[in-house]
Amino acid sequence: MKQIEISAATSIVVLTGAGISQESGLDTFRDAGGIWARYDIDDVATPEGFHRNPPLVHDFYNEQRREAAIARANPAHIALADLEKAWPGRFLLVTQNIDGLHEKAGSKALFHMHGTLDGFLCEACGGRGSWSGDMSISSTCPLCGRSGTLRPDIVWFGEMPYHMPDIYRALGEADLFLSIGTSGTVYPAADFVREARQAGAVTIELNLESSRKGHGLFDIEIEGKAGDCVPTFVDELLKGRIS
Ligand code: APR
Repeated sequence: MKQIEISAATSIVVLTGAGISQESGLDTFRDAGGIWARYDIDDVATPEGFHRNPPLVHDFYNEQRREAAIARANPAHIALADLEKAWPGRFLLVTQNIDGLHEKAGSKALFHMHGTLDGFLCEACGGRGSWSGDMSISSTCPLCGRSGTLRPDIVWFGEMPYHMPDIYRALGEADLFLSIGTSGTVYPAADFVREARQAGAVTIELNLESSRKGHGLFDIEIEGKAGDCVPTFVDELLKGRIS
């Protein structure tokens, strides 16, 4: 395994997926009984689906927004916020998640590449901003005042995720890449581990079960619940050890 000197120069990039929020009571997408077992992606997670049936899509995200609003950050979210605070080197957390649990845990150096439930996007004026509570076809844009033009500020399939130039720059300079609670099935996030490897980073997956077993993409694969293995890993890392 590549050796890594833990020092103030060590740059860390972390990618999280729905698995990190599972112990906070939020469903993942592809586990048994997950969101995509109950909804069709084309209906609720594409621009075409939204324009075919806006009320259906608003209801889908209103339900997720209500659940996320009452969910609490779990020890895995908190450990990552602690790592960011304690880390002497560069640190970036990129999440595919649209819940606000990393923020609730105190994370600051955070990109939501798939957008957030706490945001609106106006299709009339192109404006974006924070949003709380249900959204519907009669919601009014806080910026331009038009109604019937708002959508959740979520990146849907076929759309470009947010912050990509900054994310690729950070991956290109990473010494350590952590992938936590993601199935690695959706691009471009699924390619981040390859980008990090090309930069010479040590790559580590922490997941309920290895998502890329046998692909040799991760130098270390730690299997277990995020709420257990992430705090343990962060403790070790802050002691200068990677095991
Ligand atoms: N601890 C750690 N990992 C877990 C836990 C847990 N408690 N529970 C589930 N997992 C793992 C699963 O083993 C799986 O590998 O989390 C992963 C969840 O995978 P997905 O449901 O596919 O979620 P994610 O990888 O975030 O999906 C990526 O797909 O549908 C789109 O935009 C959506 O951002 C999402 C993207």
